[in-house]
Amino acid sequence: MTAPGERTPGARARGAVTPGVGAPGASSDVRGYGVDIGGSGIKGAVVDLDRGALATERIRLATPDPSTPEAVARTVADIVREHGWDGPVGCTFPAVVLHGVVRTAANVDQAWIGTDLQAVVGTSISAPVTGVNDADAAGLAEARFGAAKDEPGVVLVTTLGTGIGTAVIAGGVLVPNTELGHLELDGHDAETRASDAARDREVLSWEEWSSRLQRYYRHLEDLFWPDLIVVGGGVSKKAAKFLPMLELRTEIVPAQLRNEAGIIGAALLAAEAAEAAGAGAAGAAGAAD
Ligand code: BGC
Repeated sequence: MTAPGERTPGARARGAVTPGVGAPGASSDVRGYGVDIGGSGIKGAVVDLDRGALATERIRLATPDPSTPEAVARTVADIVREHGWDGPVGCTFPAVVLHGVVRTAANVDQAWIGTDLQAVVGTSISAPVTGVNDADAAGLAEARFGAAKDEPGVVLVTTLGTGIGTAVIAGGVLVPNTELGHLELDGHDAETRASDAARDREVLSWEEWSSRLQRYYRHLEDLFWPDLIVVGGGVSKKAAKFLPMLELRTEIVPAQLRNEAGIIGAALLAAEAAEAAGAGAAGAAGAAD
């Protein structure tokens, strides 16, 4: 199913990743493509990589059920094709993604464990794919373009949704696959107590949920001593209801890119990977001369 107003007619948006992604003076026409795979929806859009913003409307299709790798890859291909994109694609996944391979499956089909996300989606769309953990993609986007754009130090981005995703960015560099949503909180896996899904499931008031968040974020800041904490996920648009209740030594702010952050971060990483591959190929050609 497609959310109303999200699908656009198949406007052509050919892959046009050029060297100098994000570099000062780079063309304002540098575009990439990001796909955000979630438990209920898969969303994709062309991204303006200079501005860190969507360059087309998002297309959202329901995550297939069962969400096997092949079924998900087909849905991703449908979205990418609808936009007419034929360049490199960045693809988020809500689990550990180590060198393109899915290694965990806390809230997704277990069939994904051991699946090469980059290969399965890459085959389906016949283009290079960069796979990345969902929170890492969102965190990187917030660090480059959003709530942490001006923070040169250590940034901890958390996404509060079905689970708790985390990203650590130090000096602008992402430390991938920090799974801090699974820290222990009151003797439990933290995300089962403090995610937005836990708030819904247990019908917690904002005060009740905030007291869990308080313990969770205090634990995080005691372990990491970040300069800034960013709170993302859909519930971050209601940040005024819970962030003021938290008493932390670290500044804590809502995410700015909201539900576009994953798409933007994934597109950015794919463009950077394409650029590095191009530079590698040029280097190899040079060495052969
Ligand atoms: C997963 C993470 C993911 C987070 C948010 C957690 O359950 O372990 O990899 O980033 O959910 O989707």
